[in-house]
Amino acid sequence: MVKILYSEEEIARQVQLLAGQISAHYAPLVSISYPLVVLPVLKGAFVFSSDLLRRVTVPLRVEFLRASSYREGTVSGGLELDIPETAFLSGHHLLLLEDIVDTGRTASQILATLKGCGPASLQICALLDKPSRRVAPVEVHFRGFTIADRFVIGYGMDLAERYRELPYVGELEECTF
Ligand code: IMP
Ligand code: MG
Repeated sequence: MVKILYSEEEIARQVQLLAGQISAHYAPLVSISYPLVVLPVLKGAFVFSSDLLRRVTVPLRVEFLRASSYREGTVSGGLELDIPETAFLSGHHLLLLEDIVDTGRTASQILATLKGCGPASLQICALLDKPSRRVAPVEVHFRGFTIADRFVIGYGMDLAERYRELPYVGELEECTF
């Protein structure tokens, strides 16, 4: 059983709010010839980014990032980041799009790599933020919801690659029979 934490309607309202904040922030900074570069982190951010981007009103370009953490034994290792060679990030305003920022390790490593590309600015937008779990200091500039320390699924987020297709954000309840 899945317990719904944020319904489709609640998410849509929050996504519209975020799109408004992002549009207002970047309107004076970007243009058709100098668009905002939005960087959704695959796979988790694919649903969130497709809903959000259709509501943002400033000119933008999308470049998908793929981050995969590799593990050695039980210790979490580093992060491999694929940035398209043709992405042209230097001098542009970059907005990283995450489904959820948990410990902050993923986002902080991506930020460090993107800083090396010499952007005009670099900010994070996340649907969900779990600040109580933070290990790496990461600031989420545009945040949909703040949640407690719980594992969520749906709206792009998975548990072992399942549940990404759910239209809401939920939590798995233990089966009691
Ligand atoms: P972090 O590096 O610990 O901040 O976690 C980054 C990634 O872990 C997120 O982008 C998600 O893909 C995944 N993650 C963290 N918490 C959850 C959760 O509650 N549900 C599903 N995925 C999660
Ligand atoms: Mg993710």
